[in-house]
Amino acid sequence: MIYLDHNATTPPHASVLDAMRAAAEQAWANPASVHRPGQRARAFLEQARGELGVLLGLPAREVVLTSGGTEANNLALWHAFAGGRAPGALVTSRLEHPSIVRAAEDLARRGIEVRWATPTEAGQIDAAAIERALAGIDRVALVTLQAVNHETGVLQPVAEVAALAHARGARLVVDAVQAAGRIDPDCWRGGDLVTVASHKMRGPKGIGALAVAPGIKLRPLLLGGEQERGVRPGTQDAALAAGFAVAARRAREGGPGRYARLAGLRDGLEAGLVSLGGELGYEVRVNGTAPRAPHVSNLSFAGWEGAALAAALDLEGVAVSSGSACSAGTARPSPVIAAMLGRERARSAVRISLGEDTTEAEVDMALSAFVRVLRRGSLNA
Ligand SMILES: Cc1ncc(COP(=O)(O)O)c(C=O)c1O
Repeated sequence: MIYLDHNATTPPHASVLDAMRAAAEQAWANPASVHRPGQRARAFLEQARGELGVLLGLPAREVVLTSGGTEANNLALWHAFAGGRAPGALVTSRLEHPSIVRAAEDLARRGIEVRWATPTEAGQIDAAAIERALAGIDRVALVTLQAVNHETGVLQPVAEVAALAHARGARLVVDAVQAAGRIDPDCWRGGDLVTVASHKMRGPKGIGALAVAPGIKLRPLLLGGEQERGVRPGTQDAALAAGFAVAARRAREGGPGRYARLAGLRDGLEAGLVSLGGELGYEVRVNGTAPRAPHVSNLSFAGWEGAALAAALDLEGVAVSSGSACSAGTARPSPVIAAMLGRERARSAVRISLGEDTTEAEVDMALSAFVRVLRRGSLNA
């Protein structure tokens, strides 16, 4: 199987698995226990917090370990609006991951003013869109902006939007889930609350983090013990933390370098698919023409259902996605592409995301699989 769905998740790295196995064997005690076995387990949590602090450019003691990116994003939004009180508006967009969009919709139902910034057709929430969304609001509490879009790979202008948010006295949440370990950290600096997920950077699933600037008081979504300083109660797993620590170190030591070479492979594949579409009479168009992370390509194949195309490619041994992973299985067209370019483009969209170890030979084989599938489709049409 040629796996080209690295934005859904990445395979755990061998060094991550080694660290997890060692921690699971030696540090299975409860990290909250004061005895020495407990302290041994706790050391893995602190190691992860330390690595994440460096990766995210925020103090290690302000890093909260969560169950993943979804929980980290919910926690980030919740801190400003807990209990449905209305300290100011939320500015966000339909390009964000559902863990932001659905949480924002829920806040709107609770009476919070939510403003939706309009994306450009090229796939960005630019500073002008944020300025329009901010216009006429008395008080803004929070702005959200993901660093890299999960569907298109388009880079978002984090620094510019951070300046706009801060000028209005608002805090910025940066979802760096698809950015950490893939692009230069400078591209996603500026957030007051930053979220990441371990499994997108070759760590284990079921663990993520929210890092915040000093002085930000988080509020728990769950009530329970004092773990994670009471913000995220529940017994932590030293083995997950050990794997996350290794993944975070790999991400900051050479992560972006490992991804940079993928731009050439991605561009070649994209050009091949566009010209193949031309030969076979399908219009193939790139979704997300603004500057992108090097490993992602999102394309619409006119006349095709993205979900049907992804299923046919699966049978040919190539794993890609149509829509975001959370919507996969429901064949729901990507809300991101719909917000940028309309429902028809979304319905026929397929996302291809390369990984650290993707080779030129695999990309060539994937292109051949597309040729077989699209040829069959054209005969049936
Ligand atoms: C941009 C973005 N944010 C958040 C998430 C959610 O992360 P997790 O799967 O760890 O809950 C994802 C997952 O696809 C994502 O792509």
